[in-house]
Amino acid sequence: MSLFVTQDNNGFRQVETIPYSESQLNAWLEPLGFSTRQPQKLAEAILKLSDWYNSQPEPLTSWQNPSVQAAYLAYFLPLNMARLRAVYFEGEQLGFFKPYKRWVDIGSGPATLLHALPQVSATIELVESHKNAQSLAQNTLPGRKLNWTQTISGTPQSLAVLSYVLGETPSLAEVMASFGAIMILEPSTREAAPRFQKMRSALLAQGFHLWAPCPHQELCPLRQLNEKIVDWCHDRVAVTTPPWFANIEKFLPIKNRTVTFSYLLAAKTPPPAMSFGRLVGDALIEKGKTRQLLCQGSEKIYLRWLKRTKFKGELSRGAKIKPVLLSGHPEIDATDEQMRAFSFEVNDSEG
Ligand SMILES: C[S@@+](CC[C@H](N)C(=O)[O-])C[C@H]1O[C@@H](n2cnc3c(N)ncnc32)[C@H](O)[C@@H]1O
Repeated sequence: MSLFVTQDNNGFRQVETIPYSESQLNAWLEPLGFSTRQPQKLAEAILKLSDWYNSQPEPLTSWQNPSVQAAYLAYFLPLNMARLRAVYFEGEQLGFFKPYKRWVDIGSGPATLLHALPQVSATIELVESHKNAQSLAQNTLPGRKLNWTQTISGTPQSLAVLSYVLGETPSLAEVMASFGAIMILEPSTREAAPRFQKMRSALLAQGFHLWAPCPHQELCPLRQLNEKIVDWCHDRVAVTTPPWFANIEKFLPIKNRTVTFSYLLAAKTPPPAMSFGRLVGDALIEKGKTRQLLCQGSEKIYLRWLKRTKFKGELSRGAKIKPVLLSGHPEIDATDEQMRAFSFEVNDSEG
C-alpha cells in the first residue's frame, strides 16, 4: 500500500506532501535569490507564475527565470507531488502499475514524479525540453542518476506519465497509442476540462480502457464537449504541509488544506470488473438532505441521504460506492448502517 496516503472509512484521503526539510529547500532557493525567510517574496513569485499559467492559452514554463524556478520548488512541486501520490494510491489499489516496468515521464519538469514516488521500482525515463528544468531535477536529486531521453517511444510494456503537461503540449494523443498504459494528471480548471475530455475520448478511440477514476467506459456524465462548462470531473485530497508552507500561504489568496486535480489511468488491457460508482461531486448540504453526484455510467445520478437517517457524516469526493442494483439502495464500503441510509435521485433537475 502507498507510503504517503491514508484513507478513512468515508473515503477521505490525507496525503503527506513535502519530503524535504526547510533547510534543504533553502539550499535550493538561496542561489536563486529566494528563501523561506522571505515568504512574501516567494508568494509574489508563486502568484505571478500561477497567473501566467492561467492566462496564456498554451504557455511554456519559462524555466530560465529564477523566480519561476523558486516558485516551482516552494509551491508547485510539493502540490504536484501530493497529486501524484494520490493518483498512485488509486492505481496501486487496482493493480494498475504492476505490468509496467518502464515509465516515460513526458514534460518531467524538476522530476516531480521521482520526488513524489521514490518507492517505484520501474525504470523511469524523463523527457524534458527545457535545460533549466533538467538542471533543477539534477540539483534537487543529487544522489540519483537521471535517465533522460529525447524521443518519445512507447511499447506495450511501457507506461506514459503526463503530469500537468497537456496545457503545454496538447497534441500528445497520437504518441500515446504506442504505450501500454497512461497516467494523466491535469489541473481541475474550467480551461483544462475540454482538453482533458478530448484526451479521454482519444484514448478510448485508440483502444485504451479506463481504469480510474471512471468506473465505466461510457461517455462521461460531466462531458463538456460542445456544452456550457458547469462542472468537470476532479478529485480532492487533504494535504499535510509544514509551517514554512503555511507562512507562504499567508500571502496567497488560496489556502491548500485540500488540493484538487483531474486524472486518468488508462491501459490497453481491461480493468478488473468494476461494480461500484464513484462520487464525483462534493457534498451538497440542503434542507433535510445531503446529495452528492455519483458516476457509474453516462447518466448524472445523485446519491442522497436524508437528515433523519443514521448516517451523519460526509463522504469524500472520489469515494467508491457499491450500488445494490435494482433495489435502489446503494451501499458504501463502510458500514451496514450507512448502507441503509442511502437512496438514489436519478437525473436530478440540476443536471
Ligand atoms: C507544468 S510543468 C509540469 C512538470 C511536472 N510534470 C510536474 O508535474 O510538476 C510542464 C513541463 O513540460 C515541459 N514540456 C512542455 N512541452 C514539452 C515537450 N514537448 N517535450 C518535453 N517537455 C515538454 C515543460 O518544459 C515543463 O517542464
